[in-house]
Amino acid sequence: MKTVLSGIQPSGKLTLGNYIGAMKNFVKLQNDYQCNFMVVDLHAITVPQEPEALREQSEAVAALFIAAGIDPNKANVYMQSHVPPHAELGWLLTTLTSMGELERMTQFKDKSAGKDSVGAGLFVYPALMAADILVYNADLVPVGEDQKQHLELARDLAGRFNHRFGDYFTIPEPYIPEVGARIMSLDDASKKMSKSNPNPGSYIALLDPPDVIRKKISRATTDSGKEIRYAPDEKPEISNLMSIYSQCSGMSLQEIQDKYEGQMYGGFKKDLGEVIVATLEPLQQKYDEIRKSGQIHDILAQGADKAMEKASRTVAEVKERMGFLPAK
Ligand code: TYM
Repeated sequence: MKTVLSGIQPSGKLTLGNYIGAMKNFVKLQNDYQCNFMVVDLHAITVPQEPEALREQSEAVAALFIAAGIDPNKANVYMQSHVPPHAELGWLLTTLTSMGELERMTQFKDKSAGKDSVGAGLFVYPALMAADILVYNADLVPVGEDQKQHLELARDLAGRFNHRFGDYFTIPEPYIPEVGARIMSLDDASKKMSKSNPNPGSYIALLDPPDVIRKKISRATTDSGKEIRYAPDEKPEISNLMSIYSQCSGMSLQEIQDKYEGQMYGGFKKDLGEVIVATLEPLQQKYDEIRKSGQIHDILAQGADKAMEKASRTVAEVKERMGFLPAK
């Protein structure tokens, strides 16, 4: 059976962008692949985190995985830091990565822009992400569009290792949805929807109450004109809202266009608010139940145990090929 791996950072509130671009596909893939979905806490600390907030957000993201429909009996759900081979392989791969490759990463450029002091962890972040993927020899990596460049690096590193030390790593393929791979901000369709945006009106958080969701959608920026038509270059704001509608309702973009032909933006946005609420309300209820039950700790422990088996075998093999003396 083929292997899938992906991860989400526990930094701030998860958004509808994370759900549509990534989580929704995790749920879909769990039936046909051996899946590993983790909360990447080691990545989160590449920017400063308050210890209490990090702990709370880590548990919250793990609970959101389950609330979104990931079944821990089918997929391994765990914390990245609970499986130390990730960090160990991360270091080994860092030594195969060039400064130039890391300097070209757009996420690094965006996150470091204008900062006086930039942590070295933020710079080597993509080598750790490559390790996450390669430590299970993952075949497929479901991510949103913004992670494509990181995935390219993981593919290059796998190829480089294979070339120097003999064929071992699978070259992973990205799994990026056709619609919804890049959900944009509600206040500016030239920026991606992001949990780190200081304006909460720019994103829908997965745990936003229904009335907040309705309000944010009713205030979302729309293009001039009044046609409800999917045309990302010409009508980026409406096209973004249509992508969200399509991903939350299961309707195709054409079906949405036909349904709203000749109608005004106002009615479309009102319906969109309801479509999002209908998607997120069951998830929020399940989230509350999971948090109250305290079961997340057992789920994470079980996930880490299973992940550990495979990951430690990979690191042992990689170290042997690289010429490390065995520990006995
Ligand atoms: P992160 O935590 O920023 O985002 C998690 C996932 O959500 C997707 N995403 C979006 N998709 C569509 N529209 C958006 N506006 C949007 N915002 C976020 C991201 O593409 C991602 O798939 N480096 C990764 C985490 C990571 C990882 C990995 C992923 C660490 N190791 C190994 C895959 C495999 C990140 O920061 O994602």
